[in-house]
Amino acid sequence: MERAESTPTQSSVTSMEGVRRRAPKLDRHAIEQVVRSGKRLLVQGAMGIHASDGLSGKVAAVSGPRLVGVGTISAVLKSDQLLRAEIRRARAEAPFGFVGLNLMAAINRIDFDNYLRISFEEGISFIVQGAGISRDVVKQCREAGVPFAGIVSSGRLAKMYEKWGAEFLVAEGAEAGGHIGDVDHPLPALLAEVLAHSSLPVVAAGGIDVEDLPSYFAAGAAGAQLATRFLACSDGDVHPNFKQMHLAKGEADVTLITSCVKGMNARAVRNTFTEALAAGKAFPPRSKAWFYGKEGFFGRRKACVECLATDVCLCRASDYQKSFCITDALLAAAIKGDMENGLFYTGQSVTRIPERSTQALPSVREIFGMFEATLAAAEAPATAGAAAP
Ligand SMILES: Cc1cc2nc3c(=O)[nH]c(=O)nc-3n(C[C@H](O)[C@H](O)[C@H](O)COP(=O)(O)O)c2cc1C
Repeated sequence: MERAESTPTQSSVTSMEGVRRRAPKLDRHAIEQVVRSGKRLLVQGAMGIHASDGLSGKVAAVSGPRLVGVGTISAVLKSDQLLRAEIRRARAEAPFGFVGLNLMAAINRIDFDNYLRISFEEGISFIVQGAGISRDVVKQCREAGVPFAGIVSSGRLAKMYEKWGAEFLVAEGAEAGGHIGDVDHPLPALLAEVLAHSSLPVVAAGGIDVEDLPSYFAAGAAGAQLATRFLACSDGDVHPNFKQMHLAKGEADVTLITSCVKGMNARAVRNTFTEALAAGKAFPPRSKAWFYGKEGFFGRRKACVECLATDVCLCRASDYQKSFCITDALLAAAIKGDMENGLFYTGQSVTRIPERSTQALPSVREIFGMFEATLAAAEAPATAGAAAP
């Protein structure tokens, strides 16, 4: 992967300016309009450390009779050039589509503010915040006129975000991939709780597969957010071995680990790395030079790039004696495709992915086709019943 951006030509700059100006806002009003037109949002959940790179524009470019695609770029551990390039690529692939940026409150403040500034400069449809809460970012988004969405794991948090000025919410249940707010809060119950505590549009997330869409939409969700299904997809830049790790998996292949991020639970594909972690082995950071070139990440030359906010990282807090370096583990999975030593985050729906080989994986468009067909089939009995004499 190139670290430096190529120099844009004058004509590409001019057309890109136009694209940036047109970045449509995914605010409460826009979502309510989508729902009033009988459609729902199908959101691609952001996946950190390059796992979702290359997907956002393809998802945002798709719109069907029942679904409107929404892409989300992950801002985790990207250089300025990489983040700008990823936003520009997505906006070029979907000039009129909704492309948002995911920011995790757990990352260090310098990177957080930098990613926020770059996304405002480039033009983005919304900012969505997970892995922690920060009221300040809601204010900054309001001042910049960029819609803000909060990822919530309780009705209490939903209420708080609405008061602070969020435009919509993502209710993420216990079956989600990566870090999980509350392992005992399954999505159907959480969705009901969040809808009861807030008047904002709510997108349901966590463990959703194609056959689940009709029930979540019937329960009042304005959309569904999926990440795991989009990992196992022919589009996207993630290493092919990451896709392979998502195929032919049963319940026994999925495990919960204790993450270095505040000791949160996180769901991952069981492998040599997760087993070693469970046995108490520590994985301190190694050099990042192999990925970011000889200058290291942002010019920092230490093995630890301090990707997380102070006190958030258990590895750093223990002077690198305990836990693991999340940057190393996730980069090993998403970039190197190291099936033994990488950390492969996944959602519980991984057990329902039907394809068995990477050659058989559907494209983003084909996934949308499957989802549209399922929704059409769910409507069919009612239509047939109404037409019957
Ligand atoms: C590999 C992976 C990485 C993820 N990284 C992030 C992240 O950086 N920020 C975030 O808010 N959510 C992250 N998530 C959560 C997803 O965006 C999504 O909301 C969640 O997994 C629910 O969808 P799913 O059950 O279809 O995977 C990640 C999930 C996976 C599987």
